[in-house]
Amino acid sequence: MHTSTSAFTTPVFLAAYGESYTMLGMRDLKIKTQLKKSYVFKVLLQGEIYEIEGNIFRLKINEAAPLRARYEVPDVLIKEPTTQKLSLSQKEGGVLVLTSVNEDYKLRVTANPFQVELQFKDETVLSMNSNGLLYFEHLQPPPSDRYSLWQEKFGSFLDIKAHGPSSVGMDFSLHGFDHLYGIPQHTESLLLKNTSDGDAYRLYNLDIFGHKIHDKIGIYGSVPLLIAHKPDRTLGIFWLNSSETLVDINTKAVPEHIPTESAADISKQRAVPLTDVRWMSESGIIDVFLLMGPTAFDIFRQFAQLTGTQALPPLFSLGYHQCRWNYEDEQDVKAVDAGFDEHDIPYDVIWLDIEHTDGKRYFTWDKKKFQNPKRMQELLRKKKRKLVVIVDPHIKADPMYTLYSQGKEKGYFVKDRNGKDFEGICWPGSSYYLDFTNPEVRKWYADQFAFKTYKGSTNILFVWNDMNEPSVFKGAELTMQKDAVHYNNWEHRELHNLYGFYQQMATAEGLIKRSSGKERPFVLTRSFFAGSQKYGAVWTGDNTAEWGYLKISIPMLLTISMAGISFCGADVGGFIGDPEPELLVRWYQAGAYQPFFRGHSNMKSKRREPWLFGEKNTQIIREAIRERYVLLPYLYTLFYRAHTEAEPVMRPLWIEFPEKLETFGVEDEYMLGNALLVYPVTDKEAKAVSVLLPGSKEVRVIQSCSAFQPTQIYYTIPIFQRGGTVIPLKTAAGKSTEWMTNISYELRVALNTEACAVGELYLDDGHSFQYLHKKQFLFRKFTFHKNILSSSCTDESGQYRTTCVVERVIFLGLGQQPTLVTACSKGNEPTFILLHLVILILLHSYVYIWHI
Ligand code: NOJ
Repeated sequence: MHTSTSAFTTPVFLAAYGESYTMLGMRDLKIKTQLKKSYVFKVLLQGEIYEIEGNIFRLKINEAAPLRARYEVPDVLIKEPTTQKLSLSQKEGGVLVLTSVNEDYKLRVTANPFQVELQFKDETVLSMNSNGLLYFEHLQPPPSDRYSLWQEKFGSFLDIKAHGPSSVGMDFSLHGFDHLYGIPQHTESLLLKNTSDGDAYRLYNLDIFGHKIHDKIGIYGSVPLLIAHKPDRTLGIFWLNSSETLVDINTKAVPEHIPTESAADISKQRAVPLTDVRWMSESGIIDVFLLMGPTAFDIFRQFAQLTGTQALPPLFSLGYHQCRWNYEDEQDVKAVDAGFDEHDIPYDVIWLDIEHTDGKRYFTWDKKKFQNPKRMQELLRKKKRKLVVIVDPHIKADPMYTLYSQGKEKGYFVKDRNGKDFEGICWPGSSYYLDFTNPEVRKWYADQFAFKTYKGSTNILFVWNDMNEPSVFKGAELTMQKDAVHYNNWEHRELHNLYGFYQQMATAEGLIKRSSGKERPFVLTRSFFAGSQKYGAVWTGDNTAEWGYLKISIPMLLTISMAGISFCGADVGGFIGDPEPELLVRWYQAGAYQPFFRGHSNMKSKRREPWLFGEKNTQIIREAIRERYVLLPYLYTLFYRAHTEAEPVMRPLWIEFPEKLETFGVEDEYMLGNALLVYPVTDKEAKAVSVLLPGSKEVRVIQSCSAFQPTQIYYTIPIFQRGGTVIPLKTAAGKSTEWMTNISYELRVALNTEACAVGELYLDDGHSFQYLHKKQFLFRKFTFHKNILSSSCTDESGQYRTTCVVERVIFLGLGQQPTLVTACSKGNEPTFILLHLVILILLHSYVYIWHI
């Protein structure tokens, strides 16, 4: 091993060589006993350690002189991170001690065996390779019998590794930590489980129809970010590798380290937790970022500093979306749209699935069913609503289809191992897959969204990227062969988990481009990777209409949110099957408080527009959707914070209460921003739920209390507003977000025990980039202190004119009616006017105040 640090112009040699093992392929890695150390070969590895501005360390290990370049994940880091000068404080006997710029952190690097220990103020927080599991399969010249030694069979599939085996891995020991989160996407609990007697968590994007719940198999999307938390510190490990990756976790108790001088106290030695995390990837290099927090919010900022923040969604996309596979034709679209008005239910977007196309040729329309797509969009536009259509990455093999003929002619498809265009089966039958890893392909693809090219599209049409793991029917594990070949000759195995990321990137760029850079795009993707947040929204794929899937959707969305992707949701109602009415109602109530809110169903499911389940159920669903619309100012403000500060919109309780152990495993309730605690009801026939209110007490919410309709068992879900917060709301819901522009605001002020509260409101035009380029926005802060509610500017640089006023202020927890209320304005603040102010002091509401 040979290490260098950014502080030195000449790399510092530690020890000469590391060991390299030849192993079986990744599929066998799961069975650890089969790891085969077939021979030991000395190969020079080069390790580089950097300190990155903002409490981040990076360790990169590669072969010093590989036979050919190894894959280093491009395009995920938003820029080359700014490094800082680590200083060398000790160098002797094969030990190197490097000190961080602020002198808080020390990295003790030992040569033989190679280990790195990361200390904070002399206490070890994390160590690497302390279990000696660093491995690095070095590239070798082809063996004489290359095709038998470098190949692996998977069912009937043969995977020939063109450049031989090249897996990498390393172990990390997290001292004092036994609560781990992250590494989506799995249908698993919020807290990561020990894998010592089961499967490792797998990060490998796959289309698994009808996937099970409580499974560590990879589905659809992957973010290799793991977060560990203990009361006084949160840390993150970001393993930047896009090949198939496995993560093993093993928590144990070890004796507490006691300094030698207190050796007499050995009897008092306590057991402390230590968690070993082992990362293994099929290929690439070891490129790992240690995010040192120390708080969870610092981790989110650090991860965003590397991979970007959540794109600010256009406001309409935070409304309700109505989807189905499929809305049949223009008539059907019209009828569903009218149904929402008839039943007085707000919605913003209607979706068209694959059947809207001419024979699954994306960017086209079925001419019989959608004879005049522009007319249909004009109708929707008049209703102030939008359309989303599906655009999958596979391209139908049809010489008469322009995307196919151009793609073929230009050589834009992924190739198979023999250099021919990779052919797979998907919805259209024989298909080819665009190579989105090629920047030229992305540019060409983005251009397909130009209005003049995409016939029948208008600026109210937005996009849904599906099947982009990529899904290949009849392929190995229903995806692309690992030995398929991409741009620059990289095998698919190197970048598999990035394929969907790139399609969404190209699509989002296309939508921005078609508006000459003016409008924010909306793109939903099924497959994702670290950094996908920059391009739009994700959903959890094909869930089932069963209670268990509703329940698991909460930890799944919390995990995705912690991995930087705030704009996430799960199909409301469950995609597969038919929900019973109670489940559907409960799902709407849950979805109304999740970032991306879309009802969707499979083509085999019965129709389930919200009004098809009887008047009572329609009424409850209507209420749930309206609550969502009323809440939009708060939600949009949260998205602005996700966009600017990387704060997740939906967050586990422990993030807001990092010292409260009782919150660390809570996954049935969560915080929406810092102010609302949401407890979605996910059990059939629940009449009461026990809600943990951190810092306060556990309360039992019984649905028949006066705020609820006693006749209905599932009228609403418990929402609590935290004492000390102000949330902005609209005073009423409208037919869609655009109908609500002029609806006045309500401030809901929930006082804390000191009778104070603070909160924010962000607003802009809701659709363009003017907030960024022209600073056209308002960002207000509301403070209630000493019985005065005041409004001030949070960001002076923003200006936006609105005629919309704050009409109502509701106080929760004031205790008694005030005897006198006066309104006054300080200075000249024309942009935000308080008019017709109604002050209500509510002692009961469907929202409870929660005192801490
Ligand atoms: C699979 C997606 O997950 C689902 O949402 C969609 O309806 C079908 N593909 C058909 O496009």
